[in-house]
Amino acid sequence: MVALREQSISWDGCIKAAIELRNQKDGAQWELGDIANQVVKVPMVGRPSSTDDRVTVTAFAQQSGIDKQSLNVYMRNSAFYHPSMRGYFNLSYSHYDSARRAYPKSLEDAMDWLEQAEKCRWSAVEMVTQIMISKARTADDDLEFSSIIKPMDNWNFDPSRFQWEQQNTTNGYGYIPGEIYANCFWYFVKPGDIAVDPMAGSGMAQQVYDDRAIWMKSYEYEFDLHLFDLSPQQEYIQQHDLLTGFPLEYADYIFMDIPYFRIVKKQYSPDNSHDLANMKLEGFLNALNVISANCCNAQESGGKCTIVSPNYADWKENRVIMITQFVVDAFRDAGYELYHKAYATRRIQRHGDIQMALQNNAAKKHRIMMPDISEVMTFVKR
Ligand SMILES: C[S@@+](CC[C@H](N)C(=O)[O-])C[C@H]1O[C@@H](n2cnc3c(N)ncnc32)[C@H](O)[C@@H]1O
Repeated sequence: MVALREQSISWDGCIKAAIELRNQKDGAQWELGDIANQVVKVPMVGRPSSTDDRVTVTAFAQQSGIDKQSLNVYMRNSAFYHPSMRGYFNLSYSHYDSARRAYPKSLEDAMDWLEQAEKCRWSAVEMVTQIMISKARTADDDLEFSSIIKPMDNWNFDPSRFQWEQQNTTNGYGYIPGEIYANCFWYFVKPGDIAVDPMAGSGMAQQVYDDRAIWMKSYEYEFDLHLFDLSPQQEYIQQHDLLTGFPLEYADYIFMDIPYFRIVKKQYSPDNSHDLANMKLEGFLNALNVISANCCNAQESGGKCTIVSPNYADWKENRVIMITQFVVDAFRDAGYELYHKAYATRRIQRHGDIQMALQNNAAKKHRIMMPDISEVMTFVKR
């Protein structure tokens, strides 16, 4: 409290010190918190005569020109962390603030998380996400059914609570939250079933299956999961082009997170004309017909098949292309009935970066809304 020591311990001295600190660029939050805590605790000349600490803090905030809410935060943090702890980790003030907010009653837990954040080089936001995930896991421990499994068809997994990671892939595209797989497997796959993901991409399906104890809990069972892809990104995924036929003779359940029309052009393969991501609308619709027929050939009556897709906003043509309706039409024509639909947000706004802001403006300008929902459409073979 250098600034405070230089002033006499009086109300006016504290206000003067606070004004000086307020004008510093950063690093002053700790000292401001210390001074404000001192002002309410220590009797001093000139302090407003109130027995209510809140009145004292309000007066202090007003006279020193500091936002009262911010001052309250500084006070809490300074009271929570002893000065010797404040520089212990090479982290920002926001890290310390977030850890204290997450564990206001446990300095030990807060320090543990700060240590972890430093080790993993997490930003304050990333640290909070990890804390939320960890808390969710703990809360899950006492439940009969995992909270990953949704009781309703509104699927919002933001942040993805169990963060199954895409491993060793060459690019960062294409994987969906593991929770989508977990929910589909839970609702549509029975013990011992043959389940196939013929567009397995990064292999998220396998990770979720391997971790099924987390979301199946005491109801854990095994089924026979097979993964294929035109451009596999993991060695345990077999290479197969779904346009040439279904990779197995039989499947009880098929899950397909198809390339989102035009959004992911060239991302899975730069120039493979059989990659749905690289197709124009006509080719894409033909491919849907071929794929739905191939799936149907591998299933018996009652077999289920889930397709995940959003619609597509075409700003050039000023229209939304209803890909999900095309999917329904193709699977109906192939021999399926629509059995169930769930709605999963793609969380497109979650980064909130400049690119997103530009797209938001473009959507409003063109009067064409961006599709944020992926429809999780499950069909049953007739
Ligand atoms: C949206 S990604 C799937 C991502 C996956 N759900 C995950 O979580 O990792 C779509 C996948 O479809 C694959 N694909 C595109 N055309 C295909 C085809 N004709 N046959 C098989 N797979 C194809 C792409 O290679 C890509 O990996």
